[in-house]
Amino acid sequence: MGHLGAGWLERSEREQEERTDLLLEALRLQPGDTVADVGAGSGYFTWRMARRVGPNGVVHAVEIQQEFLELLMANMKRRGVADQVRPVLGAVDDPRLPEASCDVILLVDVYHEFEHPFEMARAMIRALKPGGRLVLVEYRGEDPEVPIKPLHKMTEAQVRREFSVHPVRFERNVNVLPRQHILILRRDP
Ligand SMILES: C[S@@+](CC[C@H](N)C(=O)[O-])C[C@H]1O[C@@H](n2cnc3c(N)ncnc32)[C@H](O)[C@@H]1O
Repeated sequence: MGHLGAGWLERSEREQEERTDLLLEALRLQPGDTVADVGAGSGYFTWRMARRVGPNGVVHAVEIQQEFLELLMANMKRRGVADQVRPVLGAVDDPRLPEASCDVILLVDVYHEFEHPFEMARAMIRALKPGGRLVLVEYRGEDPEVPIKPLHKMTEAQVRREFSVHPVRFERNVNVLPRQHILILRRDP
């Protein structure tokens, strides 16, 4: 999605349509956590996570589009959380996150877009603390009722297969959202 799609990401009906409140709850963030929002877009989840991790926490907002990062930081200032948010201009194969630094890395509707999924997965897992969680939120590929093109959906089986070559274990599928599933992978200790 190009940065001109920011209005769509920020639409007021989004919370109700996607139940983003339930998604945030499922992350179980703790005050003081270090988290990353990879493919952060306009920062819809960035400031909400920043509020949850509080003043002792950090959110790395990773984007490959500089325009999104500028828009995102303006949003963070408006929301009063700019001090906790670090904008990161990533590359298509490298999120440029510090090693073993993150408790949680969140990707909402992002993983299926990657041009280099293997390299991105490997680098994101390296950026997790041992025991940290990588959380993918994707439209459910198993569900024909979800009105999204198959290319933009993922099944749990696909995620399990893609990550079977990495040092993570598939922990659980939190299936509480109307159209997406929350797939949680945990880095080996
Ligand atoms: C559909 S948007 C989702 C934005 C945000 N997660 C949300 O839910 O509001 C996908 C975003 O992923 C970004 N993206 C794609 N490949 C990326 C990569 N390798 N690293 C970081 N961001 C990437 C795109 O630039 C785009 O802004």
